[in-house]
Amino acid sequence: MAKKISRILVTGAVGQIGSELTLALRDRYGAENVVATGRKTAPSGALLETGPFYYIDVTERASLEVVVRKHDIDAIFHMAAILSAVGEKNPQMCWNVNMNGTINVLECAMAHEMATVIIPSSIAAFGPETPRFNTPQETVLKPRTMYGVTKVAGELLCDYYVRRFGVDVRGLRYPGIISAETLPGGGTTDYAVEIYYKAVEQGSYKCFVRDDTALPMMYMPDCIKATLDLAEADFSKLQHHSDFNVGAMSFTAGELAANIAKHVPGFTCAYEPDFRQKIADSWPTSIDDSAARMEWGWKPAWDLDAMTADMLTKLRARHAKGELYKGAAAE
Ligand code: SER
Repeated sequence: MAKKISRILVTGAVGQIGSELTLALRDRYGAENVVATGRKTAPSGALLETGPFYYIDVTERASLEVVVRKHDIDAIFHMAAILSAVGEKNPQMCWNVNMNGTINVLECAMAHEMATVIIPSSIAAFGPETPRFNTPQETVLKPRTMYGVTKVAGELLCDYYVRRFGVDVRGLRYPGIISAETLPGGGTTDYAVEIYYKAVEQGSYKCFVRDDTALPMMYMPDCIKATLDLAEADFSKLQHHSDFNVGAMSFTAGELAANIAKHVPGFTCAYEPDFRQKIADSWPTSIDDSAARMEWGWKPAWDLDAMTADMLTKLRARHAKGELYKGAAAE
């Protein structure tokens, strides 16, 4: 029988997803039972105030072990990673953090016989040869970015630990994640977050991909829900483990700008593609997530209209308090 999750460690807890996931886990499992960790950026606000925090470097297994032992950890949510754009600027660092971080987490989970490990993958696992529309669960995985290479290798490594050593590892291929709390750091889908901040701050945005660039995206509440639901799913019902496609919405950069303009009169968006355009062009536009729906009941709740209204409400409130850009790009 699967073990129960009691005491959790989150890596990358100061990052875009980690910062909100940690608070959601603390609500659910008790604040003192969820240990946040990060490499460089200091935590602030609720993340700092509601529970323990440690600096660790996931590439050093010993630094992970100290916290795991101290808090008798039985589940790890491994959110620390170098994303696609930064990864192209420093491929070797991307390999080091993403691959050595992943194998250290897996080894640690095995050594401590943990209940569950969550190690996310990404739409970056796909490449230009992958079918772009309604991308199937089982398909061509030939990414062109180092980030994507580490995600495919990571999926294979995680599944290897499941089959070879019986470690309970689970993962999902996140699309671009949009949120109003912490800015993402160094991804290709970052424009879909920045555009909201700039709309609120200055009523205009210079977008680094073309207006017809369509990518799969998801609002943070759905991302948190997907992550928790997968973590708590019945292991015996899972046929896949580390590579679940999850979809929510897909839109072009132009459609996103037009959607924001409905709420921000006079909002303008200029398009000046840079090196990230090529990365975006190598990724799918929409995702077939029927395996996730069937195996653990995945169902997104947010669409573009609802997300835009909620993002703008939240960011306007933060802007009024002079808070925007405080939580940028964590490491
Ligand atoms: N948001 C990520 C990136 O753009 C994709 O997983 O790199």
